[in-house]
Amino acid sequence: MTSQPTPTADPIPAEDTNWWRSAVVYQIYPRSFADHNGDGTGDVRGMIDRLPHLAELGVDAIWVSPWYPSPLADGGYDVADYRDIHPDFGTLEDADAFIARAHELGLRVLIDLVPNHCSDEHPWFQAALAAGPGTPERELFWFRDGRGVDGELPPNDWQAMFGGPAWERVIGPDGRGEQWYLHLFDVRQPDWNWAQPAVADEFDDILRFWFDRGIDGFRIDVADSMAKDPDLPDVAHGTSNLTKSVGSPLWDRPELDVIHRRWRAVADEYADSPQGARVFVSEAVLPAARVAHYVTPERLHTTFNFDALLCEWTAQSQRHMIQLSLQVHDAVGAPCTWVLSNHDRVRVATRYGKPITGVAYGPEGGSREFTPLEEEEIRAMPTDVALGLKRARAAALLELALPGGAYVYQGDELGLDEVDDLPEESLQDPTWERSGHTVHGRDGCRVPIPWSGTTSPFGFGPGGEPWLPMPARWAGQTVADQEHDPTSHLALYRAALAERKRNPALGDGTLSWVASDAHVLDFTREPGFRCIVNFGPDAVPIPADARVLIHSGDPNSGRVETDEAVWLAI
Ligand code: BGC
Repeated sequence: MTSQPTPTADPIPAEDTNWWRSAVVYQIYPRSFADHNGDGTGDVRGMIDRLPHLAELGVDAIWVSPWYPSPLADGGYDVADYRDIHPDFGTLEDADAFIARAHELGLRVLIDLVPNHCSDEHPWFQAALAAGPGTPERELFWFRDGRGVDGELPPNDWQAMFGGPAWERVIGPDGRGEQWYLHLFDVRQPDWNWAQPAVADEFDDILRFWFDRGIDGFRIDVADSMAKDPDLPDVAHGTSNLTKSVGSPLWDRPELDVIHRRWRAVADEYADSPQGARVFVSEAVLPAARVAHYVTPERLHTTFNFDALLCEWTAQSQRHMIQLSLQVHDAVGAPCTWVLSNHDRVRVATRYGKPITGVAYGPEGGSREFTPLEEEEIRAMPTDVALGLKRARAAALLELALPGGAYVYQGDELGLDEVDDLPEESLQDPTWERSGHTVHGRDGCRVPIPWSGTTSPFGFGPGGEPWLPMPARWAGQTVADQEHDPTSHLALYRAALAERKRNPALGDGTLSWVASDAHVLDFTREPGFRCIVNFGPDAVPIPADARVLIHSGDPNSGRVETDEAVWLAI
């Protein structure tokens, strides 16, 4: 690995208790970020090596996707031990060193909490299997007898998110089928039964374990799923449980309120610690209007804004989505977050280069989300990469100008595109198998990060075959290639994040729309800031009395062309 200059340390200011209201959070997917030991898999030491990149980028916080011991049946969202680090990624001491070094560089650290399910290798699930039907061990999960003459049918009609039924039958020591267990995701991810006090207590303890090690907060995986109707009723005939309809027996249930409040109380115990109270971000694929009540002052702090991620690239839809997000968050006093990508979605530079860029939004919210098969159809459509990149630049300026916080998924600062030509034998996402090889899944956005050099592994590690192949076309797009090029994607992100830090108009707060053409978004923020994004065919002139702060296109053009954005001092 090439050595890099370490930016001046700017440690965490203890008095800044509202940092999370404006924070730009960078998502690290540990398996794919940086490989220190050369085994082809990212690791915590690699994350430490590359922290200077994040400090220079100018983000405020890091969210680390699961780094726990796990068979990686779902990329680590199948946790076998919530209080340790996966041996491929390192040790608890490495994690401590990562947290400490991040803090020295002024970066907060959030980690992933996966409370809906664990791994089938978790000792409590193994104990439940061994203990047999009717035992207290089985009560910690959702074991049920099957239906049919011999219990050969699943207990209800729920479907798993990755395809197939949400139930798996246990095979007893005599080789015969016995009870079934519930798994909303992969068959190797049994759901916890949160109606059991022992489960809730265990998670309180896990929160404290990591808060005591110094983390600043948690991203809550599938924050809308822990509570289930104890009768486990079938979902209405003809309706998939995947649609998350209101009143669902498994999604977004009122019992979540108690769970979220309980976590908040644990986080608030740390209010007087040197780094201040700890925070939660809810991950729930629900419209903002439904998820806003998760972030009332007694519950979680922020939500990961899926509306922003799903919304198509048109002025009209973006305007409706932004208005609605601001309105519903404002009503509960929570800041919005703005999101373009994560480790589950097609990378933004590819999405915005497709004929269909997302779902339409109106005043009431978004149209129906695409099914996995519809997404697969969109995936097969041709991509105009140059167009996608141009829009991704404008989108970055839009999201970083809006009131609240924002997320940057690793590699988005480089403008990486989706690797949609991975060899099928390299695919690891359980969706690929569970869908009977009809849905490729999420590996294309999880390919390791190119840091330097002209061939794979592009500085990801000192050698070793990366766990997913890296495309030759990324030559020229590495961090090293981009960092001294003022026109690069990375330079745009650095400039925008630096401006965000120094400009008091940006971050938390409000905006005012400026009357504009229907294809243009134009808003101001006080004091003295204006953002114009042009989605239409005609160039928009930049007002003569405004000074260009940052332009996603040519800063000297005097215009905002199609699919460009500009930040202005007014
Ligand atoms: C995570 C996914 C994961 C799923 C199950 C999601 O919200 O982001 O990567 O597969 O939860 O844990």
